[in-house]
Amino acid sequence: MKKKIDINEYAGKINEMLGKGILLNTNGDKFNSMVIGWGHLGRLWNQPTFLVYVRQSRYTKPQLDKTGEFSISVPLEGIDPKISRVCGSLSGYDVDKVKEAGLTLEDGEMVNVPGILEYPITLECKVIYAQDQNMDAIPAEEKARFYPETENGFDHHTMYVGRIVNAYMVTKE
Ligand SMILES: Cc1cc2nc3c(=O)[nH]c(=O)nc-3n(C[C@H](O)[C@H](O)[C@H](O)COP(=O)(O)O)c2cc1C
Repeated sequence: MKKKIDINEYAGKINEMLGKGILLNTNGDKFNSMVIGWGHLGRLWNQPTFLVYVRQSRYTKPQLDKTGEFSISVPLEGIDPKISRVCGSLSGYDVDKVKEAGLTLEDGEMVNVPGILEYPITLECKVIYAQDQNMDAIPAEEKARFYPETENGFDHHTMYVGRIVNAYMVTKE
């Protein structure tokens, strides 16, 4: 079940947990969830937004490009090590993360992307802006640290700004 929440009341919790790894969920060919540690809860064009950074290699990337929707799931009481490991190191290209991590899904309301009982604070988002990072604009130190060149390029991030269209807590009943 869902209980509507006021985003501002949970902003502190969302920021605290972001540093430990929250979930970015997509639902294109299938539901998939990946851990993110970078992002911003904020505002753009007078609307509440959540911005995420997704590398080119992630299964999440084509799902986002295809659907233009995502949800963000944040734990209330700390990180679950199994969810963190499965969603933060395995890829949707290889595994079904719902099964591997034991996620309990709750159907979305304003987007076709579920929330997750185990990480109950949920933001439903519609992409209103997306842009590839400009590698020339990244400071040399960060570029060397986060974007070493490989045979597949720099595996840079695409930034997606999602307008938050709904916010709720998933509850058992
Ligand atoms: C703590 C933590 C934070 C992470 N933050 C991000 C992030 O902000 N952006 C990103 O592209 N990958 C990030 N990752 C890596 C992805 O979660 C990981 O590569 C995942 O397996 C990708 O899943 P997918 O291929 O199913 O999309 C993070 C991983 C961890 C453990």
